[in-house]
Amino acid sequence: MIKEKLEKWGQTQLLKFENELTEEEKTALYKQIEDLDFSYLNASGDDVPKGEITPIKAMTITEIENQRAKFEEEGLKILARQEVGALLLAGGMGTRLGSDNPKGMYNIGITKDVYIFQRLIENLLDVVKACGKPVPLFIMTSDKNHKATVEFLKEHKYFGYDENYIKFFMQETAPCVDLNGKILLEEKGVVATSPNGNGGWFNSLLANDEAKAMLEKFNIKWLNVFAVDNVLQRIADPAFVGATACGGYEIGSKVIRKVDPYEKVGVMCNKNGKPSIVEYIDLTEEMALQVDENGERAYNFGVILNYLFKVELLQEIKDKKLPIHIVTKKVPYVDENGQKVTPEVPNAHKFEMLCVDMIEFASSCLPFEVVREKEFAPIKNKTGVDSVESAQKLLIQNGYKL
Ligand code: UTP
Repeated sequence: MIKEKLEKWGQTQLLKFENELTEEEKTALYKQIEDLDFSYLNASGDDVPKGEITPIKAMTITEIENQRAKFEEEGLKILARQEVGALLLAGGMGTRLGSDNPKGMYNIGITKDVYIFQRLIENLLDVVKACGKPVPLFIMTSDKNHKATVEFLKEHKYFGYDENYIKFFMQETAPCVDLNGKILLEEKGVVATSPNGNGGWFNSLLANDEAKAMLEKFNIKWLNVFAVDNVLQRIADPAFVGATACGGYEIGSKVIRKVDPYEKVGVMCNKNGKPSIVEYIDLTEEMALQVDENGERAYNFGVILNYLFKVELLQEIKDKKLPIHIVTKKVPYVDENGQKVTPEVPNAHKFEMLCVDMIEFASSCLPFEVVREKEFAPIKNKTGVDSVESAQKLLIQNGYKL
């Protein structure tokens, strides 16, 4: 079976060191090969559907402020019925930050410990206090960081969150291939794999019995998906929930006004008349500078990976295939002589499905503007732009003690 699979996909090199392995290592390798989805190898990297891009209207801060009381009231009612789940995407490798631990374990405190996970959970606890009921919290990990994440949160008593309302589930992995499409070995008996991006989260949730049971038990109607790295974002934000639900949208997307027309951020738009996101590299100069009837820039609202999905929509689209993106990264591997190599330059392709690609399956999406300085402090790097330093500054500016 294993041999047939490897031959079919032209990947027999994975057994090159088979004879050097112990029986136990052999069994583990065979199991890994058997379980691994090789269909990623068919990806061309060019399967994101093309289409006619046109502007979409965002609900601006002024419009939100005018209706805030109504939105919050509605949102709090929905939250008090526990119909909103929060879903933390924490399966990434956080390679740019360069820590061996899961990104959420990173301590961003200055005079005291303040962990990224803690910051996010404390944000959510504000909402729990306001609506009077715990918000069911799902945490997606990957096989690379699951154990460390679960142990860390347990050790810190979930930073005050009721553990009965937290469910962890693991995302899937994809093989890492060299630049010629051959799957790499990370060890002589271990295939090199990486988490398959942040797009497959709903199916991974459903594949986990406990997480699925929590979804069903509370009859959760909305899932607020958010990234691990934005330490300022409001999660399960009542006004956002209220605005999305009252407006009859299938998705809400928190957006920020771009600082300049060329800012490197994905921007909300319509594609063939349906909501979508245009990546900054696909935004032409003409589009970047285009203005609407009010003289405002037409493609001016960037996404921050904080989306509210209607569960009905997720159930409808769960069998649809998301495009597979190919990214080129440095992946340590065992070469044909059995030597371990830590590459200095990118040497491998990884396969990823992305949450942004789910948006265009919906027929409606509300871009909901948030105040950038109050809700956007992503930690991607150690220093410089979108770093621990820049996030610390923003947190202090917002009154947080670090
Ligand atoms: P990023 O795109 O910033 O990736 O993830 P990353 O892996 O965290 O960081 P780098 O690129 O290696 O430095 C955005 C969000 O999506 C999650 C991340 O944990 C983060 O919350 N994510 C990313 C997953 O949950 N799974 C993945 O496979 C990739």
